[in-house]
Amino acid sequence: LADEIRSAATVVAFTGAGISAPSGVPTFRGDDGVWEQFDEGQFTYGRFRSDPEGFWADRVELQRVMFDEDYQPNAAHEALAAMGRDGHLEAILTQNTDGLHGKAAETVAKSDGSTHEGNDTTILELHGNSQRVRCTDCGKRKEGGPVFERAADGEIPPTCDCGGVFKPDVVLFGEQLPGAVIQRAQSLARESDVFLAIGSSLVVEPAASLPRRAASAGATLGIVNLESTPVDDVADAIYREDVTEVLPRLRELVESR
Ligand code: APR
Repeated sequence: LADEIRSAATVVAFTGAGISAPSGVPTFRGDDGVWEQFDEGQFTYGRFRSDPEGFWADRVELQRVMFDEDYQPNAAHEALAAMGRDGHLEAILTQNTDGLHGKAAETVAKSDGSTHEGNDTTILELHGNSQRVRCTDCGKRKEGGPVFERAADGEIPPTCDCGGVFKPDVVLFGEQLPGAVIQRAQSLARESDVFLAIGSSLVVEPAASLPRRAASAGATLGIVNLESTPVDDVADAIYREDVTEVLPRLRELVESR
C-alpha cells in the first residue's frame, strides 16, 4: 500500500468516528456507542423543525457526551496531516464533526515551521462541524461553544441576533448533504488512485457507497477498521488494527522508501 501511495497521483482518505476514538471521542455504533445511550430518532431534521425546544434540550445532553474542547488530534490524525504536508494526500473526506483533522493540520504545520496554508490537503467535513451553529433565518455561522452554553443555561432554543433559531452546523438525520459537497466527494473518489477508508463502519450514506465507487473506478482500496465492514469484499488491503498503529507506520513506509 505504501508503494501504491508513493506512485499515486491522487490519494484520498475517508474517515469516520474510529479515527477520533483514541482521542477520547465516542463512536456512534457498538457497545459504548453514542446511539446506545441516545435515541438517534430524536436528532432528526424533522424534529428540529417541528419541536426545536425538545430537539435542543436533547442536543445539549448529546453535546456534553460527544464534545470537549480539550480533545486533541492523535497519532492517526497527525500521520494524515503529515502525509498531506509532504504531498502524499490530496484530500481528507470526513464524516466526523469534531474538527480534529483541521487541528492536526495546524499542529503539523506549526512544528514544521511552515504555515497552515502550506498544507494544501483539502478537508471536506461531509457532516458539518459540531463546534459551530448556523442561524436558520439569516444563515450566519457562529462559534458553537457559547451558544451551547446559553442553551445549557436554559435559552432553548437559542436564537441569533436576527431572531432566527440556531441549528448545530451539522447534517442531521433526514437532512440532505449539500449538493456541492457530495459531488466533490464523489469526484474525488472517482479520481483517486488510492482510497483509504479509516475508522468507519461504512453503513450510512455516503460512507457505504464512496469506497465502492472508488474501487469500481480503479482505485486501490485500503480499509483500516477494528471490525469488518460491508465493503471489505472489494478492498485490496484490510488492516483490522488500531488507527494509531496503522497510520503512523504507513506514513513512515511512504516516506522511507
Ligand atoms: N481503530 C480502528 N477502528 C476503530 C477504532 C480504532 N481505534 N475505534 C473504533 N473503530 C471502528 C469501529 O470498529 C467502528 O466500526 O470505527 C468504526 C466507527 O463506526 P461508527 O461508530 O458507526 O462511526 P461512523 O462510521 O463514523 O458513523 C457514520 O453515522 O450516526 C452517524 O452521523 C454519524 O457520522 C456518523 C455516521
